[in-house]
Amino acid sequence: MKNRSPQFSLNLLPLRFFLVLFFHRLKIHPRLNRLLLKRIMEFDASETQQQRYVRYLSSKKSVDDRALNKYVWVSLSEALPKNSPASRLKVLELGAGIGTMLERLVDWKLLTFAEYTAVDSDANSVGEFRGRMARWAAARGFDFSVRPKNTALIRTQEVEILIKFLQADVYDLLSRENTGRQWDLGIAHAFMDLVDIGVVVPQFCNFIRPAGLLYLTLNYDGETIFLPELHPTLDKLILQLYNQSMDDRITDHRITGGSQTGRKLFGSLMTVDASVLAAGGSDWIVFPASQRYPEDESSFLHYILDTIHTELKGHPALDQTAFESWIQTRHDQVESAELIFIAKNLDLLVRVSD
Ligand SMILES: C[S@@+](CC[C@H](N)C(=O)[O-])C[C@H]1O[C@@H](n2cnc3c(N)ncnc32)[C@H](O)[C@@H]1O
Repeated sequence: MKNRSPQFSLNLLPLRFFLVLFFHRLKIHPRLNRLLLKRIMEFDASETQQQRYVRYLSSKKSVDDRALNKYVWVSLSEALPKNSPASRLKVLELGAGIGTMLERLVDWKLLTFAEYTAVDSDANSVGEFRGRMARWAAARGFDFSVRPKNTALIRTQEVEILIKFLQADVYDLLSRENTGRQWDLGIAHAFMDLVDIGVVVPQFCNFIRPAGLLYLTLNYDGETIFLPELHPTLDKLILQLYNQSMDDRITDHRITGGSQTGRKLFGSLMTVDASVLAAGGSDWIVFPASQRYPEDESSFLHYILDTIHTELKGHPALDQTAFESWIQTRHDQVESAELIFIAKNLDLLVRVSD
């Protein structure tokens, strides 16, 4: 397999080299020196991890663009109140990552005048969102200005959006009392499977104004397919165990939406008397066109395979030699533009009760 992303480890090399030299010259105790060197290596590894994650979220954007259900999107655009300078939409996005949904909402002309609060618990993603937004705005000839209190303004004649970048855990944010039902639109994109929807859905509804909207998209719903088939039994077992790992996942002592989040959301929404206005499939489908993947989608595929690898490495139900070979072959298929990947997701547009 080729080296998939050399820039990730290379761009920290000068810093690492400098630190190693620096500590070496200090002539400190060898044990302390070894400890410091270990920390430097770990620092490098964790940076690499963060950068790889940012690249994954960025490479996911074109996959999501195709996947998002256009009927649900049109239903959202019809149900949203008009946004104008006199009437700015208040939008709250949970698990906003590096901000690709906001870019899309503006590029696809759904948002014009708005206050957009983007929440994510990951400091690195929030920082990347800020930097990326500045570059994205500049590329479109928008004014971009940094404002106080972690906000920024993007502006043209037709668009004026005040963005608030909020690094917070969604559970903490949503359990804060009495913020009032002030938001016109709540968004969660590729997020609900990571949280306990029995807790987050009712609390999210409490933040949305009476008869306001929730746009819950890319909710994984139980099926992943890799083509061409390699080994029918092993293919099936790996994907079944991967789904199971999502169902068993506990994050910060909490259960998560799991592998059937899409369908489970219907049940959670019924408990809070919210009505689903539109729903539809938003399957990820990645395939090589003319022997290459579009945009940066080969990185996306490698990242998905690495995630499955990390999750199932050492699993007692898997023959590890066969599993390692399966993962390697799938990576090779990405390199030779042969792999086709499909994952089932659902999008929902919801009207919150009065
Ligand atoms: C799969 S990513 C999706 C990001 C973005 N919506 C996108 O599609 O590009 C999920 C995001 O949720 C964030 N996240 C996970 N659990 C969270 C929590 N409890 N509170 C806030 N953010 C959380 C992660 O940091 C990550 O950025």
